[in-house]
Amino acid sequence: MKNRVVIFDTTLRDGEQALPASLSVQQKIRIARQLAALQVDVIEAGFPISSPGDFESVETIAREIKGPAICGLARAVEKDILTCAKAVKPAERPRIHTFIGTSTIHREKKLHRTPEEILALVTQSVKLARSKCDDVQFSAEDAGRTEPEFLCRVVETAIKCGASTINIPDTVGYTTPEIFGAIIDNLMNNVPNVDKAIIAVHCHNDLGMATANSITAVKHGARQVECTINGIGERAGNAALEEVVMIMKVRKDYLNVTCNVATTEIMRSSRLVRDLCGMPVQPNKAVVGSNAFAHSSGIHQDGVLKAKQTYEIMTPQSIGLKENKMNLTSRSGSHMVKNRLESLGYAEKDIDLENFYPRFKALADKKGTIFDDDMVALMEATTVEEMADAYKLEYLNVTGGRAVIPTATVRIACEGKSTQEAASGDGVVDATTKAIDRIVGFDITVRDFHLDSVSAGQEALGRVKIIAVAPEGTFAGVGTSTDIVEASALAYMDVVNKVHRMRKFAPRLRSRLSGPTVSL
Ligand code: KIV
Ligand code: ZN
Repeated sequence: MKNRVVIFDTTLRDGEQALPASLSVQQKIRIARQLAALQVDVIEAGFPISSPGDFESVETIAREIKGPAICGLARAVEKDILTCAKAVKPAERPRIHTFIGTSTIHREKKLHRTPEEILALVTQSVKLARSKCDDVQFSAEDAGRTEPEFLCRVVETAIKCGASTINIPDTVGYTTPEIFGAIIDNLMNNVPNVDKAIIAVHCHNDLGMATANSITAVKHGARQVECTINGIGERAGNAALEEVVMIMKVRKDYLNVTCNVATTEIMRSSRLVRDLCGMPVQPNKAVVGSNAFAHSSGIHQDGVLKAKQTYEIMTPQSIGLKENKMNLTSRSGSHMVKNRLESLGYAEKDIDLENFYPRFKALADKKGTIFDDDMVALMEATTVEEMADAYKLEYLNVTGGRAVIPTATVRIACEGKSTQEAASGDGVVDATTKAIDRIVGFDITVRDFHLDSVSAGQEALGRVKIIAVAPEGTFAGVGTSTDIVEASALAYMDVVNKVHRMRKFAPRLRSRLSGPTVSL
């Protein structure tokens, strides 16, 4: 099909090679399974010659994963190709991907080969790969910096020897969209047998142009894009699959191409790769960042409440998210604040916005983000004192380490009285929350724990955010300190105070809200 773009995922090869620690075979299989659910066309499962572990991963994925073609990487070297052929053999649709550097820099400085010698190696390697596998891909490494005439000769040779996919990598992320488009045009116009193969692109993100370069190449006739989940990969990474795919979907009017990816699996894939690879996703990352569907400014929130399309070019549901996020901060307008109160169950007649909104702004200026539980407390409090924290952490001492039972001693002040307790736990944070529980007597379970560094250096501030569940509802707690145990204790105390307020306000809530409980 002329307008169908093949999505070649190299998370497990280019992505994996850039991780601080390699993935286990089991972890790779979990990711490969998810890539199959995402319906990518090709999974590059690894570089079989690079280690026995990589060989085993590629072979296992080839045996177990059905749907996508399973590809292995091999240099233009006999032993690489033979090992790769063995590893991908069990696959329903095996592919060998062989490559060699073609730019002057790679030829002269790395390989010490003349252009004619490179052409001879292309011939030998593609022919050998083709004798072992029907589906052979050839890559001209550093094609982005290869002389245009020589690149044409390399591509023509590889196609003549049986490669059905020719990959044009911008290995060092050096090209720009216009220049890369011209590189693809040059091949389309000057390689006589170019119609016998699919032209693929593989763009690195050193200058932040991997996605733009890939999409421009598609506009110029490339029909395979190589990419990784969350854009992980060597140095600054590769083109991000989620970006490439969503551009094709959202701007179909402009690109007029399709791909087979099940976009509703994007978020699940992103989170799995983030968690197994230990590579966090920046909050403002396109498509999958935690802010990608979050609205903060009052003007934007007002627009989205009136019509989502005002500030959303794609739906959160299209990538597998349930809904967008409206951050309540001091920038939120009264329309948003009223809307949130209504969604928390307050009837219009009970919302006195003139009185509530200035108090909301004052609290938001102090706290930053306002959570739903803060909204309820603010709504129910009749005096400023009612909003104050009842419980204060006065003292915290923990003991932990190797071969030591983690213990914590905590003193908390409440209504003029101080109480001290000690507890042991699975770690010092667990011991601390248990000691706090003994004092306050609430039934709180931490569901989600997140630690961020707020500043750099030895005295860096750590910020702990937790989500905790209690019979009174679900609460978010935040704590900041140079000591992460103290930050955790403060986040837990934040929840304790919210539970306390909720208990205090419960009779008022019951009389005001229609539903039996408040969902927070
Ligand atoms: O960046 C690159 O050139 C590569 C090749 C092996 C395709 O990863
Ligand atoms: Zn690469």
